[in-house]
Amino acid sequence: MRQRRIRGLEEKLKVYNGGIQVDPRALKGRWMDLFEEEQPLYLELGCGKGQFASSIADAFPDRNLLAIEGNRNAMLRALQKAARHYGGYDTSSFKGSSRIPSLEKIIPQGLFAVDTEKKGIPSGFVTRTLYETSRDDCVYSITPNLAFANLYLRKVEDCFEEDELEGLYLNFSDPWPREKQASRRLTHRGFLEGYRRVLRPGGCLEFKTDNEGLFRFSMEEFRECGLEILEYTEDLHGPDCSFLSAGFMTEYEQKFSSAGQAIYYCKVRFL
Ligand SMILES: C[S@@+](CC[C@H](N)C(=O)[O-])C[C@H]1O[C@@H](n2cnc3c(N)ncnc32)[C@H](O)[C@@H]1O
Repeated sequence: MRQRRIRGLEEKLKVYNGGIQVDPRALKGRWMDLFEEEQPLYLELGCGKGQFASSIADAFPDRNLLAIEGNRNAMLRALQKAARHYGGYDTSSFKGSSRIPSLEKIIPQGLFAVDTEKKGIPSGFVTRTLYETSRDDCVYSITPNLAFANLYLRKVEDCFEEDELEGLYLNFSDPWPREKQASRRLTHRGFLEGYRRVLRPGGCLEFKTDNEGLFRFSMEEFRECGLEILEYTEDLHGPDCSFLSAGFMTEYEQKFSSAGQAIYYCKVRFL
């Protein structure tokens, strides 16, 4: 179903990056520039409204978490939620561009340090390192170890160098139920081979879904690609399951679980 566009979406999104577009592809191989500490980088692909990413970043301050979302409405909701979660003020209700913080200059390709306090930008809601782009895709730095990128990722290799990622989360990925759409599923072997390239050897993928068809398909793909299955359950929130992942719910997961639906979950390792 096509979502109705949020009114003033583009202006509202701009508030979170100081009005500057930052191309996620420009950070390929240098994602560490975006985060305060050089520590293992985890990716959530298709983060929706971002609850899972914020909770993981909170629970694991020794990890950097990048959450990518292709849908601009969902991205705005994720940024608004993060603003509330981290006690920042939700600046997207500002009216008119005069209230949108403007930055004095951009040094293309280079580093651009922003003193967020002096510029009147809510600190923590603009990247400390910025790269110019003319595209709509954008990166938003939220806390020292959490960032969002608004981009519909077609190939992970477009954004990440070999071995750049430590781990990957796929939560309630779109099922693409028709057979001829199978290659669009984020657990299709085409994607899995890409993940293998950008994950360090031994890196893990954690996958959750409510969709039985997608789960069975994914398990088959994992096996075909020789991934090691570390954790597996067909009822993540059932009484017999104690996997850590049950403690970090996504928005979809909350909705389906509270409706009594079982959640399929699996953790696999790339060898
Ligand atoms: C069904 S929603 C689930 C959202 C969230 N993970 C949750 O569990 O609440 C799937 C999301 O993944 C996003 N998505 C799917 N493929 C993507 C891609 N290749 N790049 C970025 N986002 C993607 C969609 O835009 C959608 O918001």
